[in-house]
Amino acid sequence: MQNIPSITDFDVRGKRLVVRADLNVPTEGKRVTDATRISRFAAGMRPLLARGARLVILTHFGRPMGDMNPELSVDKLRPLLAEALGVPVRFSDVSADRATRIHAEGLADGEALLCENVRFNTGEEENDPTLAHAFAQLGDIFVNDAFSCAHRAHASTEGIARLMPAVAGPLMMEEIAALTEALEAPHGPAVAIVGGAKVSTKIAVLKNLVTKLDGVIVGGGMANTFLHAAGAPMGRSLHEPDQLDTVAEIRALADESGCTLYLPREVVCAAEFAPGAAAETVGADACPADRLILDAGPGAVEDFKAVLGRARTILWNGPLGAFEIRPFDRATVELARYAARRTAAGAAVSVAGGGDTVAALNHAGVAGDFTYVSSAGGAFLEWIEGRTLPGIAALTRTDQAA
Ligand code: 3PG
Repeated sequence: MQNIPSITDFDVRGKRLVVRADLNVPTEGKRVTDATRISRFAAGMRPLLARGARLVILTHFGRPMGDMNPELSVDKLRPLLAEALGVPVRFSDVSADRATRIHAEGLADGEALLCENVRFNTGEEENDPTLAHAFAQLGDIFVNDAFSCAHRAHASTEGIARLMPAVAGPLMMEEIAALTEALEAPHGPAVAIVGGAKVSTKIAVLKNLVTKLDGVIVGGGMANTFLHAAGAPMGRSLHEPDQLDTVAEIRALADESGCTLYLPREVVCAAEFAPGAAAETVGADACPADRLILDAGPGAVEDFKAVLGRARTILWNGPLGAFEIRPFDRATVELARYAARRTAAGAAVSVAGGGDTVAALNHAGVAGDFTYVSSAGGAFLEWIEGRTLPGIAALTRTDQAA
């Protein structure tokens, strides 16, 4: 794990911490439909408040791109945040001017201030130094607790970290530790399950994983492109004929690195992607011309379970089939439950993350049973691509004067 300073090592009493959170939670109107990001953030902050820290909380919400769109105000998050933190939360309807500074300076030990959506400021996404400077004026130490925004070099994630003592928050540390354990120093055999619709969106992920792990199970629409490259008919299935060279490159890289790629030997297909559509299991090389492949078949699930049964580390990104509609959720659900059972038995460490993955694990009822489920979407993907995340790189600078 990189040498990243952590706020837990600091005496925070009386200190104003400028904390970058990611409270970008799903909502319907003003109602938060999944408060996981709020509760996980708050769990790390409560001990700091108890030790007398003063929190100035910065977050984005949605993509207002510099416009003050009232629908994207973060004020609506305040009641849930206050409940989760266990203290009242004040609100500043701006995030980077003199008024915000006055609010921040008025905080007493153990108090919290939530600032308005940082993306209402033009300059946030451009990483404008003047805006970063205004954020830095709000406190004594910058605490980046937003792993899920670490792939963004924005004024409130990267720019500010260059202007003041900058450390990682508890959730950021937890995410980095879990992903490092799964990818950089895994207990072998280490296997990834990579699903999702398109090879073209996960080229870098696959290329990186085959060089690091012992095996990669390929699922979802991506598996179709691999099967097609081996000559299988696709009927009306989603696949990418223009990615056959990419498939060959990934295969060559896997061979060179001694990584085994696992593909379904059996698939479930139907005439249409609709609830209750009649599903039929066929060999992976036998999709009829008028059908589309929507899931891995039972034989493939047995194969994949055998692979997971030998693995001591399981990294999961992306569903194996069109899990939103029954019965095409079967492979994803069975494998997710199997990985959860291996985890519960202490036989494997399981780490999952990225976009649809958490929804798929929730659907299978096992999100709470994995060793670690990342709160990040895009940042998780970039991490498993092996990229340097600017928000984390800024915390490892060597001129820190904390
Ligand atoms: C996310 O939801 O993945 C993060 O909050 C980042 O959001 P963004 O893609 O709008 O930067």
